[in-house]
Formats: sequence, C-alpha cells, structure tokens
Amino acid sequence: MKIRAVLFDAYGTLFDVHSVVLAAEQLFPGQGEKLSLLWRERQIEYSRLVSMSHQPDLHYRPFWELTRAALQASAERLGLALTPAAEERLMNEYRHLSAFPENGEVLAELKRRGVPTGILSNGNPEMLDVAVKSAGFAELLTHVISVHPVRRYKTDPAAYALGPAALGLPAREILFVSSNGWDALGATWFGYATLWVNRSGAPPERLGPPPTYTGRNLREVLACLPTKPGARAAAGAPAA
Ligand code: LAC
Repeated sequence: MKIRAVLFDAYGTLFDVHSVVLAAEQLFPGQGEKLSLLWRERQIEYSRLVSMSHQPDLHYRPFWELTRAALQASAERLGLALTPAAEERLMNEYRHLSAFPENGEVLAELKRRGVPTGILSNGNPEMLDVAVKSAGFAELLTHVISVHPVRRYKTDPAAYALGPAALGLPAREILFVSSNGWDALGATWFGYATLWVNRSGAPPERLGPPPTYTGRNLREVLACLPTKPGARAAAGAPAA
C-alpha cells in the first residue's frame, strides 16, 4: 500500500519527554530519572483513566493539566517536596522539550519530497503550539492535530480517526509514527500503516499484531516511503 502522508506522535517521538531529567536531577539529586519515568507513566495512566470513564464532560482535562497532576502525584509518591517553584520549573521544561537530533532533517526531507506531514497528539493545542515552535518545526509540518476537540485520548479510536479526517486519506495510506509501543499498537489496531521508532531497544508489545515497520530512529520513516510515484516501499522491512 502506498504511503501518502506521515503523522507523528509528539511526546516521546518528536519531543524527548525525558529531557526533563537534568532539571529534575538538579532539584532532586539521585531521583531525576526515577521522577521522569514515573511522571510519564502517571501522565499516560491519567489520560487512559479520563477516556475510559466515557464521561468526557465530567472528567476530561487538557493534557497540560494531566501532566501537572501527574507530576504532583509522582513527586509525592517518591516523597519529594515539590515546591511551587520546583513545579513551575519542571512544567516549564516540559513546555520546551528537546527534539531528538535527527527529527528536523527528516521533517525537512519530507517537506522537500512534498509528503504531507502532521502531529497527532494527546497534547492540547496550546502546549503543542509552544513545543512545535520552540523546536523550529512550525514550517515543516502541514498539520498539528490535537485530540482536544474530541475530548478522548489515544488509544480511543475517536482520537486516531482525526488523522484520516484531517488528511482526507484512508488510515492505511498514512504512516503513523510513534516511539511509544502502546501508541504504535493502538494505531495499528485502528488501521494505519505504522512505524514503531524503538529508540531504546525496548521489547515489543505482546498484544495484537506487530507494527508494520520497526526502526531505531526517525530516519527510518524515509525508508518506508515509495522512492518514486507508484513504487512500493523500498526498505524498512515489514515486521510481520
Ligand atoms: C502524545 C503522547 C501520548 O503526544 O505521547 O500523544
């Protein structure tokens, strides 16, 4: 199937959520990495909780608020005294996360090839806007899609459905790229062609079908695209 567009997950895929470790380590020596990991886990857990409640008007909170609540809960869990100043510092780090080094050049190459690109993220529009601008990606992405309008988080199908609707393409003609194994799995279930960017060499998920492609960094996206109109994907061997 010809890939006609590429959608990226934001947090963990384009932006390194663990770039907060340095500041966390300065604030809480010896605990920075643990706090960062727990924070991320709790943030995703909260996103699932609010979506699975199926009461979006009662329980939906923008991702930025979930991120803050997750930070507070994780710090308390580790017994860390999170002062308002420390909380602001870490939230500010989260607002301006570093992009992984190769991402800019891959987005620029997709633009050069005329491939429509976008973000499809749990992030609410304001936080995505700041992250995209501070990474210098604003000119490189044709769409920035937040799940916020449907008030459901990935892996809810209502969230993944925003991609084909915005691009005007069936999911199978869109490559959905995520470094989060669970997100690649949810997108595969939904019907996207998927690339799991397994930067850390993590073990694969043990549920459902494998992603269409697996790679170690974002450059793998280019290998999943046809080299010329009508050509089949040249590389990035299907995982199944
Ligand atoms: C996102 C989170 C889930 O950007 O990584 O959607």
